[in-house]
Amino acid sequence: MALKRDLAIGIVMGLIVGMASGYAITAQEINSLRSQILGCQLRIEELEEIMPPLRSLAEARGILIGAAVGYGPLKTEPLYAETLGREFNILVTENALKFEPLHPSRDRYNFEDADAIVSFAESNDMKVRGHTLVWHHQLPSWVTTGNFTREEWIGILRKHIIAVVKRYRGRVYAWDVVNEAIADDGSLRDTIWLRGIGPEYIDLAFGWAHEEDPQARLFYNDYGGEGLTQKSDAIYNLAKGLLERGVPIHGVGLQMHISLESSPKPQEVAANIHRLAELGLEVHITEMDVRIKHPVTEDKLSAQARVYREMFEVCLSAENCKAFVMWGFTDRHSWIPSFFEGYGSALIFDDSYALKPAYYALSRFLLNDLIEYRRLENN
Ligand code: XIL
Repeated sequence: MALKRDLAIGIVMGLIVGMASGYAITAQEINSLRSQILGCQLRIEELEEIMPPLRSLAEARGILIGAAVGYGPLKTEPLYAETLGREFNILVTENALKFEPLHPSRDRYNFEDADAIVSFAESNDMKVRGHTLVWHHQLPSWVTTGNFTREEWIGILRKHIIAVVKRYRGRVYAWDVVNEAIADDGSLRDTIWLRGIGPEYIDLAFGWAHEEDPQARLFYNDYGGEGLTQKSDAIYNLAKGLLERGVPIHGVGLQMHISLESSPKPQEVAANIHRLAELGLEVHITEMDVRIKHPVTEDKLSAQARVYREMFEVCLSAENCKAFVMWGFTDRHSWIPSFFEGYGSALIFDDSYALKPAYYALSRFLLNDLIEYRRLENN
């Protein structure tokens, strides 16, 4: 088995080298791997052994693939850290960079967890998405109960953003500068920041972040704006307005927290990503999970695999969609069961770290796509 896995990795390396140098790997090598993997001549456990990790396939295809990370399991579960480093080339801090854990009192910051996660990423050659500088949830009580003037609110947000972005300057690839600022009806969400500062808080936040780290890619991130909806129109208009005012925004994050019953239409997601490309913006899928209503059945797991594959395909087909990030990777550590009653099993590894059909769907799709891509490049 180890030999087969080496062979598979060797072939992928061949694809990578071949893509760079124009050196063609033999059709025989490709066909052998293709028939073993795609033709399913192997049993599922055997497939597990031979398939190259997602990140090798993704790197060869020039896309980032990632997951949200919690410091707790990273510290205590060796299998968590091992799987994360092996499979993904980007991570996002699930909670560690949010205002509440990071800045619990006015003059105190707690960088410990975020520092550890960022170091882990660096030692595993992974990029980091920083989540999130401005949000209306997970705020400390000194902020939520504070009674400040507009000038003071501006000072608080400015100081927070500067301290955090400065600390990780050059180490965070992309920041979710503003998270969920738009309500479902498309209006600006009524938040503590809107009330305290006015709509300019969004422009200001991007400006401060850019000043502290001009290299970082700056994103507006939201949910429910994946397909063509009132909300995605509002996100588009917000981004367009920011660009027109010269605000440094580089991309839009589509969270993609979806369920089998509520998944957006792939053509609509593609059209939405395309109109953002026309504004010159990048897109990242930032928090994908596909929750399943209990009981979990084989059929539902297959349907889930299809949804993951479809959304991945949409991202991979769009020039400007550069990262596909899930909100975790193992069902053992997922926010879904505690936030959506009666739902679970939303990620691509199960709660014992075994690969689910959704994992194979991504991996097979990537491999197949890579082979096609190589073939087209050679013709
Ligand atoms: C969630 C985390 O996963 C939970 O651990 C936490 O208790 C609440 O927040 N949209 C976001 C994320 O932008 O920050 C949220 O993360 C999930 C929804």
